[in-house]
Amino acid sequence: MNNLIKDIDILEEETQTTQEEYKTLPNTNTGKKRKLYIESYGCQMNFSDSEIVASIMMENDFDTTDNADNADLIFLNTCAIRDNAEQRIRHRLQHLQSVKKKKPATVIGVLGCMAERLKTKLLEEEKIVDLVAGPDAYRDLPNLINEVDDGQRAMNVFLSRDETYADIAPVRLNSNGVSAFVSIMRGCDNMCSFCVVPFTRGRERSRDAHSILKEVQDLVNQGYKEVTLLGQNVDSYLWSSNPDVISITAEKKAIKKGVDLTNIEVVNFAQLLEKVAFISPDLRVRFTTSHPKDMNDEVLEMMAKYENIAKYIHLPAQSGNSRVLEMMNRGYTREWYLDRIKSIRRILGEECGISHDLIAGFCSETEEEHQDTLSLMDEVHYDFGYMFFYSERPSTLAHKKYPDDISLEVKKRRLQEIIDKQNEHSLLRNQKDIGKICKVLVEGESKRSADFLKGRNSQNKVVIFPKHNFKKGDYVNVKIDRCSLATLFGEVVL
Ligand code: SAH
Ligand code: SF4
Ligand code: F3S
Repeated sequence: MNNLIKDIDILEEETQTTQEEYKTLPNTNTGKKRKLYIESYGCQMNFSDSEIVASIMMENDFDTTDNADNADLIFLNTCAIRDNAEQRIRHRLQHLQSVKKKKPATVIGVLGCMAERLKTKLLEEEKIVDLVAGPDAYRDLPNLINEVDDGQRAMNVFLSRDETYADIAPVRLNSNGVSAFVSIMRGCDNMCSFCVVPFTRGRERSRDAHSILKEVQDLVNQGYKEVTLLGQNVDSYLWSSNPDVISITAEKKAIKKGVDLTNIEVVNFAQLLEKVAFISPDLRVRFTTSHPKDMNDEVLEMMAKYENIAKYIHLPAQSGNSRVLEMMNRGYTREWYLDRIKSIRRILGEECGISHDLIAGFCSETEEEHQDTLSLMDEVHYDFGYMFFYSERPSTLAHKKYPDDISLEVKKRRLQEIIDKQNEHSLLRNQKDIGKICKVLVEGESKRSADFLKGRNSQNKVVIFPKHNFKKGDYVNVKIDRCSLATLFGEVVL
């Protein structure tokens, strides 16, 4: 029973990665004049951006600290995806006022998606911060800090069409030295009706493929064993040496206009994946997030072709009902989504791990439509998922067009039904792994015991096994002998 409770804790950790958890950067002490403390909320992209911010600030006479009380500069890198994400940051900001009272010279800045969404509001109306910078304004931070030093409040929330921070090497202060995240694109053009991201992160743009490959090569040289390529919709990655072609839509337009594309270099996501996988057979390559409307067989075939591309796809469904999906402006139907799942199973087999994002209680969702989400889960049998109830976001299409008319009580009950079903399926999927041998990349010691190591298999499942003489960064073959709904346990096979 106890074990089960602990494992549920692990699952909760997993389900929180899109918002509730926050991360701080550890101490660096290189004799710089001032100290920066950053707390990062939201998705992996925000965590990744904080590494870029730290890199910019360390070039500008700041060291980092993990203690806000010791800091000269405090940044909250914020998330705006759901209302409770923003509430949490507001509480944090209130709390930080006490730090400022003790040390009035401390500068407090808000970065990221909530900064972009609220713009002047935090700065002027609520007067609780000194600096506001949106996701595309981080190069400007040293100037903004100079303005604050001169006694002004400073803000830059311009969204860019081409900023990708391609030339800035992120400082990986929080890393376990084994796996790293590499941002391959920024922004999002999809306009899902519930989602604030297109407003907070701006237009979609793909990062120069050469700079991605260089960053991955550098990571390999430093001993990293795993990279996760990050984008809101990695399947629409498209980089070309012609700056007019910065997205798939732009490529189509260029072809229509008769632009000669023969002599320019164009790299799509499947091709990028291949180039990254090719860097080293010892490097495990992951990516997130795939969008069902764009995920094509070329990507799946590339995954099948290279052993070192992880056999795991995060394929958010959001709903299992086609009318709701249409209202969500997701660009696919239930049937299309299930066809994509069929392709995954055809090309990569039963072995491939699949996870989802699902939203309970979107505007006007009926009880039958909610049942369609549950039946979609029954058809797919996901390994795990990230589950939310709908939270209306200002400025989004849904906010403008549809009343948020499902009561909180009903939203919560539907969400619980989705979570219960996922727990059932996670356990079933994990039980299927018992008796199998999987290749685990060791990330470190198990939290519960130093005699055990913790790692992940290709399907992204956490595997715990006895330490022997293995260490962080090793690949180890483990035969699974037991499982819970969030974790596999096994013995080393030599
Ligand atoms: N780009 C990714 C998702 C990024 S946001 C994709 O398209 O799948 C992560 C998840 O947060 C979404 O998949 C969605 O399930 C959830 N989400 C986004 N906006 C939300 C809202 N207004 N209310 C509840 N959940 C939301
Ligand atoms: Fe939001 Fe949709 Fe873009 Fe994902 S694809 S970030 S859900 S608008
Ligand atoms: Fe949140 Fe922005 Fe990521 S809204 S989920 S931090 S893109």
